[in-house]
Amino acid sequence: MKHIRAIAFDLYGTLFDVHSVAEQCNERFPGRGREISALWRQKQLEYTWLRSLMNRYVTFEQATEDALRYTCRHLGLALDDTTRDALCEAYLRLKPFAEVPDALRELRRRGLKLAVLSNGSPHSIGAVVDHAGLRDAFDHLLSVDPLRIYKPDDRVYTLAEQAFGVNRTAILFVSSNAWDATGARYFGFPTCWINRADNVFEEMGQRPDWEVGGVDEIVRLFDAANAAT
Ligand code: LAC
Repeated sequence: MKHIRAIAFDLYGTLFDVHSVAEQCNERFPGRGREISALWRQKQLEYTWLRSLMNRYVTFEQATEDALRYTCRHLGLALDDTTRDALCEAYLRLKPFAEVPDALRELRRRGLKLAVLSNGSPHSIGAVVDHAGLRDAFDHLLSVDPLRIYKPDDRVYTLAEQAFGVNRTAILFVSSNAWDATGARYFGFPTCWINRADNVFEEMGQRPDWEVGGVDEIVRLFDAANAAT
């Protein structure tokens, strides 16, 4: 942690709670909110990975909408256009996890450069960050969109190195998505896995350098490392 100069954060599920949309799902489909949001997220991720493999990129918003349509068909729920649009809009207003705003401020106070590095499009990343009033917390909002390929492709992780102008070994990559932390670690980032739900890590040949329960714990790890010098 002592050599870290900059931090790149995954967005969805890491800084923002993708399941905060379950509330709006529940309003539209009473009693089914949680189930919809879980399958919706899983399909959204699968569609990004599959489209990368097929070299058939669509934006994250499109993959998100496609995943919602699949989810509702799979669960036997009728999704009209108004509901589809409302739920996709709700995805642009996800809630940050409670500790995130203060923890980001604390990390910046310590002189660290911060970025979002997300599979989201510039529009979806900007909307989510702006809605939470967190635009000023970041030096860079980095989207995969110019590359038209999704994480965990190696080329995406280079975006952070280029934006910060810092070698990958001095950039901490933070994700709650174990597949993403795995990709980042293969790329060569020191990597911190946020494990809020007591999950197990992927079996894909990597382990995170740090495992924490929230972004606030990274502040404490950073302070402890620097106090020890
Ligand atoms: C992100 C999603 C995939 O890149 O978590 O923000």
